[in-house]
Amino acid sequence: MASASKMRVAVLVSGSGSNLQALIDAANAADFPAEICLVVSNNADAYGLERAQKSGIATKALSHKDYTSRSAFDEALHEVLREANVELICLAGFMRLLTPGFVDQWPNKILNIHPSLLPSFTGLHVHQRAIDAGVRFSGCTVHIVRAEMDEGPIVVQAAVPLSQDDTADTLAARILASEHIIYPKALEWMASGKAKVVGERVMLDDANDLPNSIHHPS
Ligand code: GRF
Repeated sequence: MASASKMRVAVLVSGSGSNLQALIDAANAADFPAEICLVVSNNADAYGLERAQKSGIATKALSHKDYTSRSAFDEALHEVLREANVELICLAGFMRLLTPGFVDQWPNKILNIHPSLLPSFTGLHVHQRAIDAGVRFSGCTVHIVRAEMDEGPIVVQAAVPLSQDDTADTLAARILASEHIIYPKALEWMASGKAKVVGERVMLDDANDLPNSIHHPS
């Protein structure tokens, strides 16, 4: 339900959009402090756009191939977000690096989800790299976006244990299930003001009420 007091959020996707779906589902609750008002994709075929349309959310396909530079694409993206009066951006499988100029225009207003326990395993192929490194836990992280890739204050993490039989696919599937739990939590906390960025950390209003880590046994 749209409401004047809800924070207006855009979700940026490039693919399947299962995290987008988790955010949409959470935002359907009457007391959720944010509404998803726009979904943008750099890939017109992204299934995430279809998910948004099915939920009656406005969509915009903005192909980076139509722009001569990264900054020209980011300027167009900025305009689209401004026109929709977006207040907060959630990156959910958005496979484009944003320019420092764009990130500066949205200070502490961009969230990202990454399928590892940052600061370990930034970048791509994280699940295979976690298996190869022999770590006992991996997981996922929602963080505030800084200009450097996969860096920024951590809002919430979930730890997921590895099993010796894990493949990149089995681990990815278990971590994705945790992503769907923590991303709506992070958005709720940021939109309601329960979580605030203080320097390079995110502080919670009442850390006792709001566990900022989630451990999923097995
Ligand atoms: C997720 O694993 C997310 O952490 C990463 O990209 C994947 C997107 O999946 N950034 P989906 O499109 O939300 O299903």
